[in-house]
Amino acid sequence: MKITSKELRNAWIKFYESKGHVNIGGVSLIGDGTTGVMFNVAGMQPLMPYLLGQPHPAGKRLCNVQGCVRTVDIESVGDATHFTFFEMMGNWSLGDYFKKEKTAWSFELLTKVFGLDKDKLCSTVFAGNESAPRDDETAQLLINLGIKPEHIYYLDKSNNWWELEGTVGTPCGPDNEWFYPLTDEECGREHCDINCPCGRYVEIGNDVYMQYKKTADGYVPLENKNVDTGFGLDRMLAFLNGLTDGYKTDLFAGAIAYLEGVTGKRYDDGGEAQKGMRIVADHTRTAVMLIGDVNGILPSNTGAGYILRRLMRRAIRWCRKLGVDGKEMLGVAKVFIEEVYNEAYPLLPEKEEYILTEIGREIERFESTLEKGMKEFEKTLTGIARKNEFMAKQDPAYVPETKIGGKAAFKLYDTYGFPLELTVELAAERGLTVDEAGFAEAFKEHQEKSHAQAAGEFKGGLADTGVMTTRLHTATPLLNAALKAVLSPDVNQKGSNITPERLRFDFNFARPMTQEEIKAVEDLVNEKIKEDIPVVYEEMPYRQARDEGIVGVFDNKYGDVVKTYSIGTFSREMCGGPHAKSTGELGHFKIVKEQSSASGIRRIKAVLE
Ligand code: ALA
Repeated sequence: MKITSKELRNAWIKFYESKGHVNIGGVSLIGDGTTGVMFNVAGMQPLMPYLLGQPHPAGKRLCNVQGCVRTVDIESVGDATHFTFFEMMGNWSLGDYFKKEKTAWSFELLTKVFGLDKDKLCSTVFAGNESAPRDDETAQLLINLGIKPEHIYYLDKSNNWWELEGTVGTPCGPDNEWFYPLTDEECGREHCDINCPCGRYVEIGNDVYMQYKKTADGYVPLENKNVDTGFGLDRMLAFLNGLTDGYKTDLFAGAIAYLEGVTGKRYDDGGEAQKGMRIVADHTRTAVMLIGDVNGILPSNTGAGYILRRLMRRAIRWCRKLGVDGKEMLGVAKVFIEEVYNEAYPLLPEKEEYILTEIGREIERFESTLEKGMKEFEKTLTGIARKNEFMAKQDPAYVPETKIGGKAAFKLYDTYGFPLELTVELAAERGLTVDEAGFAEAFKEHQEKSHAQAAGEFKGGLADTGVMTTRLHTATPLLNAALKAVLSPDVNQKGSNITPERLRFDFNFARPMTQEEIKAVEDLVNEKIKEDIPVVYEEMPYRQARDEGIVGVFDNKYGDVVKTYSIGTFSREMCGGPHAKSTGELGHFKIVKEQSSASGIRRIKAVLE
């Protein structure tokens, strides 16, 4: 190893400290629900209020190494470069230095500290569009530093613009990405450059010039010009060690060696065994991080807990495919807790027993139904084969069925705990697909049934308040989440009152809202109404709800089992309901008054039109 993960973390922090930055450390991986993003997906996420202008207690120059969880590419895990957990090395200027210093420091770090050749370094900058101009300034600064002009590429918004997708009220801007060739050997195509599909060039990190705020009506300039830098540690570590396989770094070497030991298979033989070891290692690492987090979560059937469950169950099944018991995940988890992340994440060794116990419990839960579920799965397949055989005899032109029905997939999910993608993966191994739309339909039907049941419980006391009350009940958590997103994550509900005509909502905030903020909140609520998101009802133990980060507004009023309502990932609250079935039923949301209620408390009155 030329450089270890521990050395890389330290090198990053030391370099930026030498440039006047304060190391603010990492925060929880679990999102607080304010942006609609379930996990922390970028180092800038917890810093959003400060990028939008709020002063940060540690000053204007910050750096850290922040854990992130991104599960959009879960299907790709198993190849050499995808992970569901990774660490982002970051640094920020909050309205302090800008492009001149940032380009110089990234260049110095890459060429002096990490020894990259400036003649091979490539950079991409924003080509410009109707929202923001072409970034000639950054391009010129890079050329002045010694980057070859032919190594600078102007790319469009899909490449060189960074924002948190699906959010509004969040900071964003054009970025400058750094690329470097893994080898000097060109692949033989006409232009073997950063755009070449051969993958000779790797993207090693990016500097975002966050000078805009994304609103429902487009991009508006921020008062502060900020810098938001992110270099992925896992990827950088592989790159600096000349590795094209991210699982060969010291972050994974111990886990892979452990799996080789217990399975008797060799990672370097490639194929399914290699894929399986990568999946088990990656998913176990993420499970350890999510359970061992300061706001740790546990596997469950909703929200973030369900994502954790999916990761764990996929890992368990791949253990079995590797020919070992799912319990081997525990051995892999130990390597991460005791050897790899013990220094950078001291909470993990502290919570080791708890993490291992909870992983063990999920393994037991799943393995107890796995056998039966596999039998059910085989039965479904036999049913399809029989039907195909029968129909082919009747009609020679019959096209055989190659899809597992949505209801069958839902039964596997509901009765045997098979996450949908597990059924999809099993089906693919047999050359079949799954009717995923049919699954979603069966799922919705099931939710509606439990929803109707839940609403029924309230009929007695609330029957005469009618549909509008119901709808305003659903607008309240939407408003709560929108206020957090637009104003600050620290905004909390302090009270609410609903009549058939209007909702009243009190929250902590020190000053009157501006017209622009009021409009942004209305727009965000109306956007969520337009998305027609189903309102999902679930009962769960109070502790679980709290552990999953579900907002409980009046904590002490709840008994052991609480009723929770989720509106996609945008809002998850404990509340008695009743609620609309989906946000589409709400109509148009309008704030009619914003006023002071008490010292530090604002009051909103809103209606549905
Ligand atoms: N926010 C930027 C990223 O996540 C730095 O890549």
